[in-house]
Amino acid sequence: MLNDMLNDIDRVLLSKEELDETVKNLGRQITEDYKERNLLLVSVLKGSVVFMADLMRAIDIPCRIDFMSVSSYGSGTKTSGTVRILKDLDIDIEGYDILIVEDILDSGKTLSYISEILLARNPKSIRICTLLDKPDRRQVDLTAEYTGMTIPDEFVVGYGLDYAEKYRNLPFVGVLKPAVYEK
Ligand code: IMP
Ligand code: MG
Repeated sequence: MLNDMLNDIDRVLLSKEELDETVKNLGRQITEDYKERNLLLVSVLKGSVVFMADLMRAIDIPCRIDFMSVSSYGSGTKTSGTVRILKDLDIDIEGYDILIVEDILDSGKTLSYISEILLARNPKSIRICTLLDKPDRRQVDLTAEYTGMTIPDEFVVGYGLDYAEKYRNLPFVGVLKPAVYEK
């Protein structure tokens, strides 16, 4: 039940309405910047699916989409440092202007790994669009060209983001009570 999930949330960071506004603004910027380009949105599964679904509809120019999946986390709340490709892209990205769509930029290890792999395939350009950014936790030198919101160093769930594969379907982004993962 929804109530069971809500009990685990300390507070709401981004409400449905704030997410809506944030995504619309990102969509407007991307629409402007990619007018004369060959845009391919690359969503990193699974955390970014909700964001991707909303963002693509906030973009007003022709674009294509593709998905890739990597694992870095297991069920903990900190990065393991190793990143594995679980599902690769379907599209040959040579000549495309790639925009990687991520849920959250934390240590930066996942995205720097993905960017490196994709760069080697000769796209025209690569940029990163992340819904959330936790700059305090960065371990590699990486910044996103598009950021929805910068947040403090707390573990968040909802709007696609999970803890142990749970809470992804919450319609807002909330801070998970530490008691939930310290158990
Ligand atoms: P990074 O490699 O440390 O930047 O990890 C990025 C990935 O870690 C994200 O795509 C998320 O899957 C996961 N992650 C990092 N912080 C959080 C969080 O606060 N909540 C949920 N997932 C997170
Ligand atoms: Mg993720």
